[in-house]
Amino acid sequence: VEQTYIMIKPDGVQRGLVGEIISRFEKKGFLLKGLKLFQCPKDLAQEHYKDLKERPFFPNLIDYITSGPVVCMAWEGDGVVASARKLIGATNPLQAEPGTIRGDLAVQTGRNVVHGSDSPDNGKREIEGELAQWESVQTPWLIE
Ligand code: GTP
Ligand code: MG
Repeated sequence: VEQTYIMIKPDGVQRGLVGEIISRFEKKGFLLKGLKLFQCPKDLAQEHYKDLKERPFFPNLIDYITSGPVVCMAWEGDGVVASARKLIGATNPLQAEPGTIRGDLAVQTGRNVVHGSDSPDNGKREIEGELAQWESVQTPWLIE
């Protein structure tokens, strides 16, 4: 089954949005397979965003992501990668649609509260650590 890596960034944690953000994925009907509060070291942040290392905002991005604890999550479900990106909304929160996490909860690209994997392959690559094996009692009410 497809999995995606969702990370609540330090601004989301500091602003008390952890419950709100988790709630959106729960209510949608995806399955939570892993969760931890984590202080991201600089080298891991650089690795995570390595595709952006030539961009002028890269040093600010690394400072931002390592500025406080993040919440790391693995969410599972058919089509979860693309669907999570839709729930999160556009990179620039001012362009993100109302109803999306960034559209409702943020104003700046450099403080956009949450990360979501951009492909199933990257979802696999970004998830590390042990995942819970469980089935929600809701599954038969969500999936025919
Ligand atoms: P992630 O889910 O965090 O990967 O965001 P994304 O996939 O919507 O955007 P992308 O991967 O292109 O950029 C990663 C992150 O870098 C963004 O979420 C922003 O936090 C930051 N970022 C991207 N572009 C800019 C920019 O132009 N200025 C600043 N300050 N930050 C940027
Ligand atoms: Mg990205």
